[in-house]
Amino acid sequence: MISHNQKEALIQAAAAARQQAYAPYSNYPVGAAILTEDGRIITGCNVENASYGLSMCAERTAVFKMVSEGGQQRIQAVVVCTANGGSPCGACRQVLTEFAGDVPVWLTDAAGNIYETTLYALLPHHFGPEHLTK
Ligand code: THU
Repeated sequence: MISHNQKEALIQAAAAARQQAYAPYSNYPVGAAILTEDGRIITGCNVENASYGLSMCAERTAVFKMVSEGGQQRIQAVVVCTANGGSPCGACRQVLTEFAGDVPVWLTDAAGNIYETTLYALLPHHFGPEHLTK
């Protein structure tokens, strides 16, 4: 169960992470924050590159940080913060699905609006690790 305080902290963390974005080419900074099942908040921002295709999204940055920092790896909620309420790209939806069930995804914008959806609403009929077990 996610408390009101946890949700607020997650939203604040995503907004703060957005300030760290390196997005000189798109000028579309994105911040993400994930809440692990053991209560940690891990953030990410998009990191672009002069070779555009090498750019990394905020959500995947956060997931890769979660794994590389060690510890518990299940995600219980996600917040994405953009200027205009943008939604995670398909690649990020798939990567999130590796570590999360049908968890809440809150899309927030710079004005403070919050739109709630879920990971399976964003990625129906996902392909997950369960499909690779015998
Ligand atoms: N971006 C993200 O960080 N997350 C998404 O899910 C959508 C797109 C970034 C990638 C790129 O740096 C910028 O937003 C514009 O596409």
